[in-house]
Order: sequence, then structure tokens, then C-alpha cells
Amino acid sequence: MINQPLFKKVAFIGLGLIGSSLARVIKQQQLASHIVASTRSKKTLDAALQMGLIEAGFQDPVEAVQDADLIVLALPVRATEQVLARIRPYVAQDAIITDVGSTKGNVVAAAKAVYGDDLPAGFVPGHPIAGAEHTGVHAGRVDLFAQHKVILTPLSTSADWAVEKLSQLWQAAEADVICMDVNKHDEVLAHTSHLPHLMAFNLVEQLANREDNLDIFRYAAGGFRDFSRIAASDPHMWHDIFFANKPAILKAIDGFEAQLAIFRQLIEDEDSQALMGRLGHAQAARQHFNHMLANKPLMENTKVTQQFRISPGAHNFQGKFSVPGDKSVSHRSIMFGAIAEGTTQVTGFLEGEDALATLQAFRDMGVAIEGPKNGEVTIHGVGMHGLKAPASALYMGNSGTSMRLLSGMLAAQQFDSVMTGDASLSKRPMERIAKPLRLMGAQIQSTGERGTPPLSISANAGLKGIHYDLPMASAQVKSGLLLAGLWADGETSITEPEPTRDHTERMLRAFGYDVKTEGNRISLQGGGKLTATHIQVPSDISSAAFFMVGATICENADVTLEAVGINPTRTGIIEILKQMGADLTVFNERIAGGEPIADIRIRATRTLKGIHIPEDQVPLAIDEFPALFIAAACAEGQTVLTGAAELRVKESDRIQVMADGLQAMGIQCTPTEDGIIIEGQGKAGDWSTVFNGAEIESHHDHRIAMSFSIAGLRSHGEIIINGTETVATSFPTFTALTQQAGFNIQVIE
Ligand code: S3P
Repeated sequence: MINQPLFKKVAFIGLGLIGSSLARVIKQQQLASHIVASTRSKKTLDAALQMGLIEAGFQDPVEAVQDADLIVLALPVRATEQVLARIRPYVAQDAIITDVGSTKGNVVAAAKAVYGDDLPAGFVPGHPIAGAEHTGVHAGRVDLFAQHKVILTPLSTSADWAVEKLSQLWQAAEADVICMDVNKHDEVLAHTSHLPHLMAFNLVEQLANREDNLDIFRYAAGGFRDFSRIAASDPHMWHDIFFANKPAILKAIDGFEAQLAIFRQLIEDEDSQALMGRLGHAQAARQHFNHMLANKPLMENTKVTQQFRISPGAHNFQGKFSVPGDKSVSHRSIMFGAIAEGTTQVTGFLEGEDALATLQAFRDMGVAIEGPKNGEVTIHGVGMHGLKAPASALYMGNSGTSMRLLSGMLAAQQFDSVMTGDASLSKRPMERIAKPLRLMGAQIQSTGERGTPPLSISANAGLKGIHYDLPMASAQVKSGLLLAGLWADGETSITEPEPTRDHTERMLRAFGYDVKTEGNRISLQGGGKLTATHIQVPSDISSAAFFMVGATICENADVTLEAVGINPTRTGIIEILKQMGADLTVFNERIAGGEPIADIRIRATRTLKGIHIPEDQVPLAIDEFPALFIAAACAEGQTVLTGAAELRVKESDRIQVMADGLQAMGIQCTPTEDGIIIEGQGKAGDWSTVFNGAEIESHHDHRIAMSFSIAGLRSHGEIIINGTETVATSFPTFTALTQQAGFNIQVIE
């Protein structure tokens, strides 16, 4: 329910199925103070008045549009020009004018015939893709648009505020609003709606003209019924649409005829192989589109729903803390447990959204998984050939690790699959994994703009092992390829430019799979099997990093972090903080579940100094730089980071987003192509504040949100961080633990 009505007066011109459904939404949600309508039919107006749908009805549109701030043309498209010409002198200056027609080019042409090229700023054509068998004011339904698409086609003359208000209106109808170019709209609709309708009319007409038509219809089976259902819709409407969208429909018909001619020829020639090829290709495409037709949103979690407000300082940042399980290890425990033989027990599993996305994906592929409960998960492995086709697209949320590692696994399966992600993941490069997988024989497409998700993977006909020289230091790409290699023919080997985290190699060995590491070359033979085991997930050093940096920069802090994973491919943060002079000790080292762990004690550091971060430490601290930048800002002197271009393609562009935030807080810094230069504000032995209060955008990046949270320990004003809901992807207990540690963090939903 919206408190302030969106509009003062809404005027509908035409009140059929679509118009009256939208009027119902506006009425039910109180989106306007007044609703009026004009139609030629007095009966319709009387009915609408009686139903309480409108407050006044007119037969002349001129009377309806006076003082209206929203005018909805819900009448046959061919009447647009005449109505616009008639109402033009009476339309308020800043009124929004929209329509609901199925074609848009001709609506724009009609408007131009009336207004010339200088169209009103409030003119925004629209097309709700929804309908019902019945028409008329009585047929309207308040839920007609729910979970349906509404396409708006703003023009160069359309004002942003008008588009925004219309979007809000349609969103209130629970529609999924999309903006599209007018021509694109007409072309897309010509293929997906107008051509299929024409084909249905055409087929029924073809059969109806035969002498034996009664027999044909009597014995027609489900296929004919399904295909011809849409030929029962309103001939008037389709007559108008076919003319209104003439150029695009003619093109679509040409394409159809050409394609049909090919099929005709293949049948005539009895070209079995080519016919099978085309039919098979079409079937795979249909299966692929199935995921989309199942109406699974391709982008979820795009909204900013949470904010942190952090007041300066902390009282008594001391004591022992356990941060949650390692994200990388948690992902892998599910993936490997799922394809192992037998039952795998996991303890210390990270119940964060990223790892849960992986877990859900395997449930979607038929794997029985119990938990997680208090970090415990039981996975009933299905073996190397037991995964099942998911019913719809697999949603990976914010998690690059899920999508890249699963790419390797899915590329080797006998079924098609699609993976989607949230706003942040949908911007991340996927070609880095898709390209080498294609070399192995995979059919994989990154279908987003610029090689980004959604990823679409076709059923595999047999992968072959390759050697691949990784162009970038990426454990995700390395792991995705090793996983594909499990099913590939022969050896899969990878050389990495620098060592990256080796959890995949270690855990595969723990599952009894032979993986060789010789220097920077990692290899395995395909065709083996994994045997279930027990995985103990260590605490995540990447989450511990926020406490390490926090304790370093906070006066009197003395913190011990327990059982933290200290895999040598992850300890860059420890090395870098030590080089900066941090008071940090690693002790009680032991092995748990194949991974080294230790307790780490960190105390407030009086003399933190800026350094040039050694490039060989970059991959070993790749996720910890946002936190390290906060330490650098509190250090004395300059910190220089180079060789870290990968930071630009993480959950956000971490170089730019951190630079923006630091600058907003008064820290001098210069982002470079592959790093950053930060002018530290600290002075040895001086605990004064270094950050100004500021409002920061996290850009859907959990680590950005958490890094600026710890900056609050040394700020002299309130820090507001927008978009903190992503913290739950990797560190769901972050606020609870920081509050326990005496931070002043308030969570605003
Ligand atoms: C990860 C690898 C790294 C890291 C990510 C987790 C993994 O990504 O940043 O948070 O679990 O393999 P890249 O492979 O892109 O460097």
C-alpha cells in the first residue's frame, strides 16, 4: 500500500480488459485521488460507475483529460492519432500520457502526426504483456498484470520522472517492468507474439478450407489443440496488430518462409542427418528457453534493502572471537560431496547466502542434502553420473565461485542448464571460464552483454582434457577447469601465473582423487571417482581480516581469533599486516580436515606504516584488500598497491568503489589501472581519528560494506553504508560479532 497517491487524477480513454484491470489496481491500492474514463459506449461507463471503478464517465475524451496528471490510452491502437489530436489542447502541461497497445512504432507515429517531433515530456508508450480470453470492462482483473512483463518504450523526448512514475504504477500492479527501444519492441513482439498468432490463424484456415475438414478437427489431437489455441482470439484486434506492425511482421514472415523451405527441402531429399540436426537443435533451444518461460526471474536481489549506521569508536574491543566457516571451502564441500559416492558429513559449514546458493543448486539437481543446522550438513552423494537436470535456471545470487566452479561441472553433464545471478554477479566476466571450457569441447554461452551471465550450457557430448595456461591468477577458473577435467577424456592440466588458493586440489585429494601439483602446474586424469568423507570447514581468514584490521587500528584492542584457516595460499593478509608493523601473532597451529588452522592474536598497533605491497602477496590476499585499504588509510605514510587489476572484477570494482568511499571520508588516494596509492593519515602513537563521517555505497559488495564498517573505529562522524544486505553472503554474523566487540553498528532494514 502506497500512502501518498501517485497521481491526482487518472483518465482512462477506453475501458476494456486492460484499462479496467489497471483501473482496478489503481483503485485497490489507492494510487490516485480520482479515476475517470471516457469511452464511446455509455453501457461501459455505466457499468464502470456501478462497479465503483471510476468516479465519472464521459463519452467525449476531452472532458475526461482535463486536469488529469495521468492519461492512459487503453483503446484500439488505430484510434490513437484521432484521440490525441482531439485531447491535445486540453492536456495539462506535465501530464503523463501512456498507452497499452501491442505495437509501439505506430503509436509513436500517431503521436508525431499530432505533435510533430517535439513530443510531450510525459509521453511514454507502454505495453503490458498480459491478456485473458474475455474482453470488456467486466472481464478486468486486479491481478491481470501480476508476474507479467510490462514493456515501457521511453523516447528521447520522454522525461525520466515520467518513466519512473509509470514504472512505479506498473510495479504496484506486481508487473515486471522492462524498458526497451520502440523498434526493438516491435521486432521482438513480431517474432514472439504476432507471427505465432498469424501461424495459428493460418493453420486453422488451411485446414478449415479442406473438404474433409470435419474429420480433421474431429480427430485432431493435443498437438493441434495446443498450437491452434491462439487462433480463437479476437480477429479485429489481430487485424489491427498485423497492419500496425507491418514492417516487422513482414520480416518475420519472410524468415519463417525461408526456414520452412529448408525443412521442406530436407524432407524431400530425405536428408536424415541434416533434419535430425535441425530438429535436435530446435529441441535444445526450446529446453533452454524453458528455464526462462518457467518465469524464473533472471535477476533477483537487486534492491538495496539494508543500511548500517556506525557511530565512531568502540568500547572495549577485546576478547576471543570465532568467525564463521570459510566460504571457498564450504562451496567445495557441497560440490564434491554431491558427486561423491557415499555420505559426506560437513561441520563448520558457512551458512551464508553464497554457499547456500551452491547448496540449493545441488538440491535442484536432485541431490539429497540435510541441513545446514549449526554448521552441520549431510550430503548423500549421487556419484559422478547421478546429477539430474534442474527444472529451471539455477540462481547463484552474488556468488562468482558458485557460477564459475559449477560451469565446469555442468559443462560435463548430459543435460542443459542455465545459471543466473544478482545485479553484481550479472556484471562479472564469465568468458574467462567459458573460453577454456569450450576448448575442452563444452557448449557454453555467456548470454549477457559483454560475456556476462546468464550462462547457458548445453548437454555435453564428451569433454577432452587440455592443457591451459591461465592468463590471470584465478582459483575459480582453475577450479572450474579441474572439475570439468573429472569427466574429461585424459589429462587436464593448468599452469597458473602465480599460486592461488588450492582448496580444490586439497579437497579432491581428501575425497580420494589424485591431483598432482608440480610447481605452478596442476593436473588430474579424468574418469575417476570421489569417495565420501568428513569435511571440517575452518574459520574464514577473509572474514577474520575485518577483525584483524579493526584491532590493529583501534586503541587498546586485544583480540584473539580462534581456529582460523591459515592455508598458505590465503595468508597474504597476515604477511602484509606484519610488514606494515602490525602486532600480530599466529599460534596454536594445527591441521583440521586437511587444512592448516591456527589462533591469531592481534593488538592495537601504535606504529602502523604504509608499504609497497609485494606483488607476490596479491593473489594470497585477493579478497582482503578492501580491509587492508582501511589499514593503509590509518597508517603513517603512503601505501602503494600494484598488480591487482583483478580487484576491478570482484563483486564490485573494488579499486574504484574503495577509492570513492575513502575520498568521501577525506582520505587522499589515487586509483590506478591495477591498484591504488593511499596517503595514510596516521602518526605513530597517535590514536586520533582519520576518517570523516560519510555516506557510502557498497555496490552489492559485502566486503566493501564490512570494510567501511571497521573504518568507524577511527572516524569522527557517523558512517552510513547503503546496501549492506550482501554482508549475509559471506559473514552472516558480522553485526552480531561486531556489536559483541563493542562496535556501534545499527542495522536499518
Ligand atoms: C575464490 C577465488 C577468488 C576469490 C573468491 C573465492 C574461490 O576469486 O576472490 O572470493 O573460492 O576459488 P578469483 O578466482 O576470481 O580470483
